[in-house]
Order: sequence, then C-alpha cells, then structure tokens
Amino acid sequence: MTTAVIGTGGLGSVIARQLASGGETLRLSSADTASARALAAQIGRAAVVAAGNRDALRGADAVVLALRFTVLKGVIDELAGPLAGKLVVVPSNPVTTDAHGNLSRVLPEGQSSGKAVAGWLPAGARLAMAFGTLPADLLVSASNRSPEPAVLFYATDDERAGEEVERLIRTAGFEPVKAGGLEQSGRLEVGGDLHGLVASPAEARSLIRRA
Ligand SMILES: NC(=O)c1ccc[n+]([C@@H]2O[C@H](COP(=O)([O-])OP(=O)(O)OC[C@H]3O[C@@H](n4cnc5c(N)ncnc54)[C@H](OP(=O)(O)O)[C@@H]3O)[C@@H](O)[C@H]2O)c1
Repeated sequence: MTTAVIGTGGLGSVIARQLASGGETLRLSSADTASARALAAQIGRAAVVAAGNRDALRGADAVVLALRFTVLKGVIDELAGPLAGKLVVVPSNPVTTDAHGNLSRVLPEGQSSGKAVAGWLPAGARLAMAFGTLPADLLVSASNRSPEPAVLFYATDDERAGEEVERLIRTAGFEPVKAGGLEQSGRLEVGGDLHGLVASPAEARSLIRRA
C-alpha cells in the first residue's frame, strides 16, 4: 500500500525508512523538497518525491504529517479536500522550542492535541495520533524487537482509522496498542505517562487497563 509522508526531518525520515523496510510504498514531501529528495535516494525504489504536499497525497491510502505542531494547521489547510477519505496520522507533540532549546506547550493545559487537530481536518478524514511517543533514536532501536515486539501507542475516535494505523504500526516493526479516543492523546505527548515508554504488549495493555 502507499503512504504519503509529509515532513522528512528528524522523525518523518525514520518513520519513512521503517515503513519502507516493512514493504510500504512512499510518496515524500518536505518544505523545500531537499530533505525529501535525499531521503528518497537513501530509501530507493520504494520512495518517490512528490512535486508538493498535495501531490504527495495522489494515490496514497494514508498520510503521515510529520510536522512541527506550529506548521501543522497551515499544511492541513493547504491540503484540505484531498485529506477526506484518507487515514491521517499525526505524531506532532503540541510544543515549540525556543532559541535555547527550551520546550513550551502551544495548547492550553488540559486541551487534547488530538481534539485540536481533529477540529482542523475536513469532514471524512480519519485521524489517528501515533508515532510521536518515542524520540526518533528510540523509534529506531526499539523497532522489530524479537521475540516480543515493542509497543507503539495510538489514539483515535475512528474504528477504521484504528485498523489502518495498526497496520502501519506493524509495518514499522511495532505492536499497536490503543490508548483510547482522541481525548487521551495527552497521554502520548511530551509530559504524558505513555510518552517515551518502550513497553512490551503485556505491560502496555496493563497500563491502559489500570488508567
Ligand atoms: N524528532 C523526534 O525525535 C520526534 C519524536 C516524537 C515526536 N516528534 C514530533 O514530530 C514532529 C516533527 O518533528 P521533527 O523532529 O521531525 O521536526 P524537523 O526535523 O524540524 O522536521 C520537520 C519537517 O517538516 C517539514 N516541513 C516544514 N514545513 C513544511 C511544509 N509547509 N510543508 C511540508 N513540509 C514541511 C520540514 O521540511 P524541510 O526538511 O524541507 O525543512 C522537515 O522535513 C514534531 O511535531 C515533533 O513534536 C518528533
């Protein structure tokens, strides 16, 4: 199947490599296409560089928006209509970094990023918050663990999005575990109890049951 990865920086490049390793075909785009081109060259035949963000969606079953939270709404507005009918995967944490590297939250305390992003999407887009719980280096080192895979948590309000994102998470070399609906996305983010956690499936399910 084909997934568009929009944003090929620190996180998007890792997600793209993992999906390609699992057999996914990719359409890549980035702000100025240089990083998308470099990544496509590394990945090889499984990845093509799109002419732009809208072109990345052409023929794609799903899209991963691996973008900083502060540019996410602008790109969603640019994509608009073509997002309808697709799985939209968002790994963005609702934070920004100042010149000294200090993180600060860009949403009011207690406001779920999943609900905020859902409000920006056109009707018919199926949103899953996923792939943003682990730093990129941990995403690399924890993938394809054996004999037991490590877990990637996700949150969605949409049953079909859940099935689709589970396939992508497995393709990337992890076991999917649902944290809950979009209102639970705070648990996945920086500061959330599931953020940065490399858990076995049994540990993960027990954490979800206890919450
Ligand atoms: N990095 C991590 O370890 C990590 C872990 C968990 C979650 N996250 C989340 O993942 C998101 C991305 O983080 P990152 O570290 O990958 O950021 P990053 O390295 O700055 O990469 C951002 C990417 O977005 C692209 N971009 C910016 N504006 C765009 C536009 N208008 N259209 C298309 N592409 C655009 C950039 O393109 P260019 O390459 O052309 O500049 C770049 O490829 C953030 O929200 C972060 O919270 C990151």
